[in-house]
Formats: sequence, C-alpha cells, structure tokens
Amino acid sequence: MRVLGFESSCDETGVALVDVQPQGTPTLIAQALHSQIDMHQAYGGVVPELASRDHIRRVLPLTRQVLAEAGMALSEIDVIAYTRGPGLAGALLVGAGVAVSMAAALGKPTLGVHHLEGHLLSPFLSADPPEFPFIALLVSGGHTQLMRVDQVGSYEMLGETIDDAAGEAFDKSAKLMGLPYPGGPHLSRLAQDGDERAFDLPRPMLRSGKPDFSFAGLKTAVLTQIKKLGDSPEPQQLADLAASTQASIVEVLVHKSLLALKESGLKRLVVAGGVGANAKLREQLNKACAKRGIRVHYPELHLCTDNGAMIAMAAAMRLQSGQAQLEQGGAFDVKPR
Ligand code: KG4
Ligand code: ZN
Repeated sequence: MRVLGFESSCDETGVALVDVQPQGTPTLIAQALHSQIDMHQAYGGVVPELASRDHIRRVLPLTRQVLAEAGMALSEIDVIAYTRGPGLAGALLVGAGVAVSMAAALGKPTLGVHHLEGHLLSPFLSADPPEFPFIALLVSGGHTQLMRVDQVGSYEMLGETIDDAAGEAFDKSAKLMGLPYPGGPHLSRLAQDGDERAFDLPRPMLRSGKPDFSFAGLKTAVLTQIKKLGDSPEPQQLADLAASTQASIVEVLVHKSLLALKESGLKRLVVAGGVGANAKLREQLNKACAKRGIRVHYPELHLCTDNGAMIAMAAAMRLQSGQAQLEQGGAFDVKPR
C-alpha cells in the first residue's frame, strides 16, 4: 500500500509518500517540505492567516514534486493521510481540504492523523528504528510530554507541562534576548559561546518526584536577568544567559526522562519534536543514558521539526497494525485543540 501524507498544522507545508507492507517498518519513498519561517520572521511569530495562504500556494507543487521523485501517478496512491490536529485551524483546513478532495476525486479513503503521533513515530523513519515498548519524550513548540509507548496506538501519558512547553521556553527566552523567530535554534547557537554557570536560573519542578514539567517561571527569571543587564548588554552576557537558559531546560528534560525510565523499568527512550534537534539535549541525554544502559533513539535531525514524512509514517503504522479508521466520501473535520 502507498500512503500519501500532508502536514499543514503550523508553518511548514509537508508532503510525503510512504510504502507499507504487511510486515516490517514502512519505508519513505519521497518527501518535500516548504518552511514558512522566513515569511513569519518579520512578525516575530506565526501569522495564522499568512500561514494558511502559503499552505494553499505550496501544497500542490510539493505534491507534484513528491510524485515526480517517486516516479508515480496519483492514481497509484491507496490512502491519503493528513494532519487533523492539533494546530492552527485555518492551516489544518488546507491540508485536510486538499487531502479529502484528492481522495474523493480518486475514490480513495483518507485518514486523519494526530500531529503528535506523527512526531512520536518519526524515529521509525530512521535507519535504526526503535523497538517497542519505550518511553517517549515529546518536546515541541506546543507540547512537553513523557509517555509510555507499548505499541502503535497504545500510549500512556506519564506527565506533561502544566504551563509552557519546552519549545515555548526556548522561543520566549530567545525573544527576550532579541533573537529571531523561532528562537530555539538561535538560542542554542548563541549558547555555544556562553558559560552556562554564569546565571543561576531556576529548574522548575525538578524535585517534584513526578514526570511533569513547568517552564513559565524560567521565562520570568530570564526576563528579570535581561532587565538587570540594561539597555545594551554585552554580547558575552547574552551568550552566557542563553547558555544558562538552555542548561536549565535541558537539565529538567533529562532528569524527568530518567525518572520516567526508572519508574517504568524500560531501557529505551525515544525523543521527538522540534526541541529533539537540540545538540545540548542530545549530548546530555546520551551521556546520562549510556551510564544506565539505556538506548536513546532520535528522529533524523531534519525530521525533528514538522514534516509530511512523519504524518505519512504514522498513518502507515496505523494501517499496518489494523488501527486505521479510514474515511470515504469527502466529509472532513479538523481538531485545532
Ligand atoms: O515540532 P515542531 O516543529 O513544532 C511543533 O509541533 O510545535 O517544534 C518547533 C519547536 C520550536 O519551539 C523551536 O524553537 C524548537 O522546536 N526547536 C529547537 C531547536 N530546533 C527547533 N529548540 C531548541 N534547540 C533546537 N536546535
Ligand atoms: Zn510539530
């Protein structure tokens, strides 16, 4: 079976084609991605209306690109998957509308995919996919969760953030430091030249004894430090603050992941979502897990942030495990929340 997948929940338009056999991990045939980051940068964040309009402009050329790369016609597709949510309502509607119209024209079924399930299963697109069961640390711009994953579709939430997500903590702190949107990668680059012990920032809920998170207090602490630095902080001071902020977020993520692993007795950790691209997080997790005999799996770097491949892959794995609720006939909904 061939599954075409569309991702349009936020500021990336992604299209991908995945092949699924009765057994074995589904394989990626082709994918194409367009990031709107440059367009939104001037506004310091995603402008929903601009995002929707750009998805409309990009989605068909990207689809043609994927089909050309695969050397396939649209009629050779068996199932069309799309991100049903969460995300921006207007942006989701573009992917869903295109997927459902195409499927209706072709007489093929559709499958709505949960965006976070896409992230969660994205490490299965790597050359060395994880085995079940595992603990998953899902760290994106909107979510921070620890989960126990026993099988496709069997997800037990162990803990999550009570306020800001880890990506939000990166982005909001970066904005306070005057860095461009999205701040995570910029803050991480600036932190390379900084001393992470220069500022004593909080590690929220580090000792709560539970695998949950809170990052709102960290942002407030960063704001307090920025105010103390005055109107024209030295570049070194900003680099130090970036390094200290990153160290705080990473320490909490590593500590809570280890807690979830210990409580479950599992020896496998999967990290997914945009923040999973963070080099410091990878370095610290790898170090802590190596000591404890725990394997850590990450998506390939370019598949950490939003993309179509993870949506097609999640749909393929749902189909393979007999858990896909396929829909026919042109009706669709999106679930922004
Ligand atoms: O998964 P994603 O693309 O979108 C959501 O579903 O939210 O994640 C985007 C988030 C943003 O907050 C971005 O700043 C963060 O991931 N991010 C990073 C890095 N790359 C992306 N944060 C820290 N370090 C990075 N290298
Ligand atoms: Zn995402």
